Amino acid sequence: MKELDMNNQVIMVSGISGQLGQTISNAIINNGGKVLGMDVSSAEMKKTAKSYGWNKDQILLQEVDIRDKSAIEKAFGNGLEYFGKITSQINNAGVSVFAPWTERSEKDFDWVTDVNLKGTFFCMKTFMQYCIDSGNEGAIVNVSSHYGLISPDPRIYTDCARRNSEVYGATKAGVIQMTKYFSVNAIADGAKIRVNAVAPGGIKNPWNPQGEDFQKLYSERCPMGRLAELEEMVGPVLFLLSQDASYINGHTLVVDGGMTAW
Ligand SMILES: NC(=O)c1ccc[n+]([C@@H]2O[C@H](COP(=O)([O-])OP(=O)(O)OC[C@H]3O[C@@H](n4cnc5c(N)ncnc54)[C@H](O)[C@@H]3O)[C@@H](O)[C@H]2O)c1
Repeated sequence: MKELDMNNQVIMVSGISGQLGQTISNAIINNGGKVLGMDVSSAEMKKTAKSYGWNKDQILLQEVDIRDKSAIEKAFGNGLEYFGKITSQINNAGVSVFAPWTERSEKDFDWVTDVNLKGTFFCMKTFMQYCIDSGNEGAIVNVSSHYGLISPDPRIYTDCARRNSEVYGATKAGVIQMTKYFSVNAIADGAKIRVNAVAPGGIKNPWNPQGEDFQKLYSERCPMGRLAELEEMVGPVLFLLSQDASYINGHTLVVDGGMTAW
């Protein structure tokens, strides 16, 4: 397969300190690529980079809250100056709230919408504009969720405080729609890029494991009988970025062990 050859690739990854962001970035770096990493805390990013042994030839870390359009643009410009090019983009940063919908505050609703939709849009906009201006032929992968396609089943969230919210699902459905929109309209406006998404199912968190009852009930609900391992998200994301996916555009690759199949 060609997808693991990341030589000559410089990939912008948002949410790099998170479990998925760091796992994907590590795979990119291990396969010869470079990463422009963004997240809200410089200290956390440095801790992450140190734990993997990434060096400054491999990664540039930029403290950015993706709700801030000008901060994204500045960090992207810094990355461009540092590496000379940005070839592709993974929009991975995302947040959720877990209180019942009956207690949803306007502030929480706005926060999830601003990070997951507005932030993702302005990251995409910055990269797509660069592709139009430079002629870069790259790809975007947006990280949605299976909860952008189906509702969480409340019966499996008995001992789990992280019962997902309406606003999370709505924004993740929005990410899928934005993916489709730009897979058509970025090309129409002169960007030579492909825009796709992945929709992961529940991922086992090795650092902060979900409740035992939740894991059991989720596994019973999932045709494959388990949650995903973090590493199982790497191949799908890198595949969509790669030349192996050169005719795949506007697609959402569901990686959920079959959870949305019934
Ligand atoms: N973990 C799962 O089971 C699961 C399932 C489906 C989809 N996803 C999606 O995968 C992506 C990564 O999830 P994760 O499990 O690694 O979550 P995580 O919480 O471990 O990581 C998310 C990262 O995004 C960063 N972030 C949050 N707000 C930001 C902002 N305003 N600006 C910049 N960075 C910001 C956080 O600091 C964090 O490092 C998210 O979009 C999430 O919705 C996760």
